[in-house]
Amino acid sequence: MKEFMPQNMESKKKVLVTGGLGFIGSHTVLSLIKSGFSPVIVDDCRNSQEFIHDSLQRLSGTKIPWIKEDYQSFDSYREYLEDEDLDGIVHFAAYKAVGESVENPMMYFQNNVSGFIALLNEVLKHDIKNVVFSSSCTVYGQPESNPVTEQTPMQIAESPYGATKQMCERILQDFAAAHKEVNSIALRYFNPVGAHHSHEIGELPLNKPNNLMPLVVMAAKGLIEKLTVYGNDYQTKDGTCIRDYIHVEDLADAHVKALDYLMTPSSENYKFVNLGNGTGYSVLEVIQKFAEVNEVVVPHEIGERRPGDVEAIYADTSMAREILNWQASKDLSDMVRDSWQWSKFLDKSNG
Ligand code: WQD
Repeated sequence: MKEFMPQNMESKKKVLVTGGLGFIGSHTVLSLIKSGFSPVIVDDCRNSQEFIHDSLQRLSGTKIPWIKEDYQSFDSYREYLEDEDLDGIVHFAAYKAVGESVENPMMYFQNNVSGFIALLNEVLKHDIKNVVFSSSCTVYGQPESNPVTEQTPMQIAESPYGATKQMCERILQDFAAAHKEVNSIALRYFNPVGAHHSHEIGELPLNKPNNLMPLVVMAAKGLIEKLTVYGNDYQTKDGTCIRDYIHVEDLADAHVKALDYLMTPSSENYKFVNLGNGTGYSVLEVIQKFAEVNEVVVPHEIGERRPGDVEAIYADTSMAREILNWQASKDLSDMVRDSWQWSKFLDKSNG
């Protein structure tokens, strides 16, 4: 499905998008183009597939420059970094699997933290004015209470992955304090799920996924015999964990609003903001909604708790409404429907 997009992108606000072929990055690229930005993707496809770039060009109706390199290989895209029309960087490129980070912490600290420091040095070197950073609700750990606001104290990170997000937020905060000429924002994602409404891009786990929605899809397809619900003895409405699921298209739109905010002269030069729906759903509620909306069966069984899981976390989203003029518009039905339809598109594409 081709959507109307501005043809002449040259005069538009140029933005580098690291990890722009990833799940949230790819959806953000489409939202940026729709809002008149001119994104340039830096992505070595370690956690995506090349066909996503073709899909983005088809869906946007425009050519999208793509440097197929590690975002830390700055010389490979120096021409874009030096471009005085470059208005900002949206930094998605990072590892994000909690379990993997426990097995391989140094890989996470190098890519997520050292790489980010090097990127910020490039921001200074090339006088880039705006930085949007992908953070995560993981920084809160098990919150003292819900909904969490941006003032809810962070707990000690439960995993190296969570620690990298806490470290990067602190680095960005101190960077911004020392360099008032750069405007920065950290976006704390809750649980991103769903897929583009065209169902032609979506979440693309390259190996066995750890997170809930792709596994619900696999159970519904019979790719796994049963989904294991990790514990039903929590102090929650039905004993299973509560999360704030947010549609990836809502999340993508929030990045455009964040750039608009940074480019507004009155904005503070560093903020961190929750991006969630503001509603908590249990694991069993997600499974039930998925089955009901898509008219499928999701075979599942109750298993042991997963170490490191927090019992419940969902967002107070008033800060995002107030400073970004943004709030989520899609509900859980949209999320489960788009996840399922994207998986069916993938099956057709794979023949
Ligand atoms: C959600 C709920 C599980 C799989 C992680 C990262 C977070 C963000 C999103 C990057 C939990 C339960 C899951 C399964 C289950 N990543 N579950 N059976 O752990 O909330 O967050 O992914 O930004 O930073 O920490 O997401 O999808 O893994 O789990 O019962 O087979 O589903 O116990 O309650 P999580 P998740």
